[in-house]
Amino acid sequence: MNEYIIKTNNISKKFKKTYAIKELSMSVRKNSVYGLLGPNGAGKSTLLKMITGIIRPTSGQILFNNHSWTRKDLINIGSLIESPPLYENLTAYENIKVRGTLMGISEDKWIDVLQKMDLMNTKNKKTAEFSLGMKQRLGIALALLNNPQLLILDEPTNGLDPFGIEELRSMIKTFADSGISVIISSHILSEVQQVVDDIGIIYNGSLLYQDKIDANENLEQLFMDIVRKERVS
Ligand SMILES: Nc1ncnc2c1ncn2[C@@H]1O[C@H](COP(=O)(O)OP(=O)(O)O)[C@@H](O)[C@H]1O
Ligand SMILES: [Mg+2]
Repeated sequence: MNEYIIKTNNISKKFKKTYAIKELSMSVRKNSVYGLLGPNGAGKSTLLKMITGIIRPTSGQILFNNHSWTRKDLINIGSLIESPPLYENLTAYENIKVRGTLMGISEDKWIDVLQKMDLMNTKNKKTAEFSLGMKQRLGIALALLNNPQLLILDEPTNGLDPFGIEELRSMIKTFADSGISVIISSHILSEVQQVVDDIGIIYNGSLLYQDKIDANENLEQLFMDIVRKERVS
């Protein structure tokens, strides 16, 4: 039997009169990497913002570890949604220190997340001078501070060069190996294919497909077939 870290039951989000998410049911297995795939405007960020409590669902239910989601669950959820919340005039260490102190987390853990995200060698560099990849890594380091059971990464490969993408992929594999469940969204299928166990295809606010995939699956073809079917129906 599968255990799920997150399930949504017919969740919807309406902005004014339009649904950004419509009666969407998604299941993310514990200790898996779940790829949430869909074109720009499909509703990926809206869905992830509901799971992280940034916005409230219009209707429907979210289950975290089999119980009804409450804000208390945010202790166990780390997230990087859209751009990382950084103090640009501070270094990586100082950014971690600010958040870590606020959260009452000890310095060992600050060093641990900086090491994990390969940021120990940035010394006195202010984050304003960081490359996009370094900023993303620092955003993930911040998200890891509270030892989350679930890590949510919204389009983390956006704007990264191929090396940055590869680096991120290998880091995501280590998270999954250390027992963290991961949801990663992307509009570029090939970027996530190698790291994900399961995928969900979201289009126009609906989940059109959800299943395990293997590395050899032709994801582009699958995606086109599913979206094409939706367009004619
Ligand atoms: N705060 C908002 N107010 C109104 N419409 C929004 C808001 N946020 C998102 N939307 C709309 O919801 C849809 C889904 O957006 P989004 O979740 O950002 O998609 P994605 O992350 O997949 O690109 C889009 O049509 C977008 O314009
Ligand atoms: Mg988005």
